Order: sequence, then C-alpha cells, then structure tokens
Amino acid sequence: MPTFGAEITGVDIVSPLAGEDFAAIRSVFEMHGLLYFPDQPMDDDQQVAFSERFGPLERTVSTNPAGGSPFARQSNVDIETGETIPLDDPRMAYQKGNYLWHADSTFKTIPSLCSVLTAREVPPDGGATEFVSTATAYDALDDDLKATLEGLVVEHDFAYSRLRTGFQLTDAQIAESPAACHPLVQVNPHTDRKSLMIGAHAKAVIGWPAEKGAALLDELLARATEQQDIYRHEWRTGDVLVWDNRATLHRATPYDAAHHRRIMQRTTVSYAVSDPEAAGSAA
Ligand code: OGA
Ligand code: MN
Repeated sequence: MPTFGAEITGVDIVSPLAGEDFAAIRSVFEMHGLLYFPDQPMDDDQQVAFSERFGPLERTVSTNPAGGSPFARQSNVDIETGETIPLDDPRMAYQKGNYLWHADSTFKTIPSLCSVLTAREVPPDGGATEFVSTATAYDALDDDLKATLEGLVVEHDFAYSRLRTGFQLTDAQIAESPAACHPLVQVNPHTDRKSLMIGAHAKAVIGWPAEKGAALLDELLARATEQQDIYRHEWRTGDVLVWDNRATLHRATPYDAAHHRRIMQRTTVSYAVSDPEAAGSAA
C-alpha cells in the first residue's frame, strides 16, 4: 500500500467484535484512512452489524436505486431477478458517476464518516477501485495555498455531479438532495491531521465567483489524483474495504458488464453530529 491504507488480518470481522478489537480497528482507520480486510465473506446482516460499529448507517434516498435500504449496490445484476442488467438501462448509466473521483455522500448535510464495501461477486478482470489520500494531498500543498484554503467552505451538489456524467435527476430527486456545505479543510479529531473534502460533488466555493471557485476545486482535485501513490484495489470475492470519506477519494474502473457479473454492496456510515468524534468536521 502507498502512504495511506492498511491491510488487517488475524481478526474475524464477520462475527461480533470484542470492544477492544473494534477499538484497535477504529484507531488504524483514523490513522490510515483505508482498511483492507481480505477473505471476510459476509451477508447483509453481518455487513450491517460490522458497519454500525463505526456509527449510524445512512438510509439511502431515492437518488439511489436501492432506496430505502442501508445498501448502495454497485452491480450489474438485478437483485430481484438475478439477471444481468442491460447496458442501456438507467441503473447502469447511474453507476457511471462512480468513474469520477469522489468521496461518498459529501452532498449530504451530515456527511459520511466512512463507507464499507464488500465484494460478493467479482468479474475475472476489470472492476478495480482506485483510492487516493486527500490528507497526503493536503500535506503536499505549499504554505501559501494552505493559508488560502483555511476557512473556505465548499458547496457539494449531487445533481451537479450526476449531470457531469449525463444523468439528469428528476425534480423529486433534486428536492430530496439539496446541496450541502462543508469546510474544505477537514481536521481529523483523533490525529489533528488535515485533509481536503473535494471530489465530483464539490461544485463551488462559498463567497467566490463561480469560475474562480471551480478552478480551485479542479486544481486541488488534479493535485490529489495526479500523485504517484494511487492505491488500486483488484477485488476478490470476500474482500472488505472501509474508507474514510473525509480523507480519501475513490473511483470505479470499467469491467466487461455485458459478459461478467459484479455484485458489490456498500453501507455508508453517517458522520453523526451527536458523535463526539464528529466535532472536528466543523473546524
Ligand atoms: C462506492 C463506489 C466503486 C466501485 O461503492 O461508493 O464508488 O468500484 N464504488 O464499485
Ligand atoms: Mn463511491
């Protein structure tokens, strides 16, 4: 792994975890931003139980085809019929948004602490997921730019990011997903390490002219993603990844969805304001 991320073995995360084992996992998560647990095949209930150790789960809104459940599915398989979804189906077009570098749920008023993605069925090749650390990216900025960024607030908008891949939300979906504003520079309350909350949903810098704000966000995204230490995860069935949505970006990569099945299930942990851990997000 590059300057971030950690592979964790020797602990069973499928069964209920002892408090001290979870505390150790949580601590590695805060330090490294991305956890890889190989060979921990889990079902939906087990994934929910493991994910809830990190905090309350988001219930996806209707902008997600799996609306109403705690799961976001990254899949070309229809959950009802078990059949492969045709390539021209809107559910496949919708998933193209994942090809853009992003962090999950930054467009929500309460953003996400982390996502848990489990590989249920993977294609023989393709379909890797790539990650970068926006804490590493922040560290690499010069002091003048860091000073410029301090105190800036960014508007994140789901309708905006989906339009970038040609997917027009309905008026009802837009009404359900109003834009949200978050500090550009996030501070991890455990480590005091700073990171950038940027990515595909980041639309504007509050108080800045639109073009100037967009240029800054483009520049920061380019710097974060053009670095050498991109971690590329080639999935195997039973893999579990947990990533920090405050301090990493990720993107999907293509696979042959006409010929191979891919079933990935994501749970998304909310950065609950009642959680004392969350205090740093307002910094
Ligand atoms: C996600 C996501 C990428 C992938 O689940 O949030 O962006 O490779 N997934 O499926
Ligand atoms: Mn995602």
